[in-house]
Amino acid sequence: MVWHAIGLQLRHPRGWPGRLIGHVMRLANHRPNRLAVDALELVPGQHVLELGCGPGAAVARMAARGARVTGIDQSEAMLAQARRRNRRHVVAGQVALRLGQWHRLPVADGAADRVLAVNVAYFWEDAAGVLAEIRRVLAQNGLLVLYVTAADSMRGWKFADAATHRLYDEDSLAALLSGGGFVLADLRRVRAGPGVAGLVARCRKAPVRKDA
Ligand SMILES: C[S@@+](CC[C@H](N)C(=O)[O-])C[C@H]1O[C@@H](n2cnc3c(N)ncnc32)[C@H](O)[C@@H]1O
Repeated sequence: MVWHAIGLQLRHPRGWPGRLIGHVMRLANHRPNRLAVDALELVPGQHVLELGCGPGAAVARMAARGARVTGIDQSEAMLAQARRRNRRHVVAGQVALRLGQWHRLPVADGAADRVLAVNVAYFWEDAAGVLAEIRRVLAQNGLLVLYVTAADSMRGWKFADAATHRLYDEDSLAALLSGGGFVLADLRRVRAGPGVAGLVARCRKAPVRKDA
């Protein structure tokens, strides 16, 4: 019961437990966020859209590299933490933090040079719909970087039960992305923490077939 409640909070942080979860996420996800942001190969001035930005740690890292960042999250509690963490860049107009849903992104077609999705694919009930929406907002030669903790590491975690989390190994993640209209540039297994393996996928939009 408690574990399931934690799983639900990770999916949608609310109230004081959600604020607490936000602080835990910032610490626990430090290395995955760093690895995923490195994989974006950011050039200053590029526009990055982050899906499920949580407490805004990756947003801060990307803004420090000169990117323009739009962070989307469904949780007011997370956006409040992300705004505090990124106040200076929000005031300067370099960072926008918006309440929203990842299957209806408040971003124009082709407006994102990069899309970042860290620890969010577990919650994609309609993964095809989310990936279609990412394809819509991603520029033609844009890059999607996605991080998940590997299924073999997560299986023992009581909060990540099947009711709240969908888990991925290398094969199922590659299948998810190619089924969603992306071509993998690479998929690396990384050390996400002590005894924890993660997967970092970098991919581009598959070309639209003229006869399709
Ligand atoms: C496990 S947290 C990951 C946060 C951050 N990316 C990190 O790795 O530290 C998942 C985040 O996705 C957000 N989220 C879940 N479902 C969402 C949806 N449908 N639309 C937008 N955000 C969503 C949650 O509110 C939460 O902040």
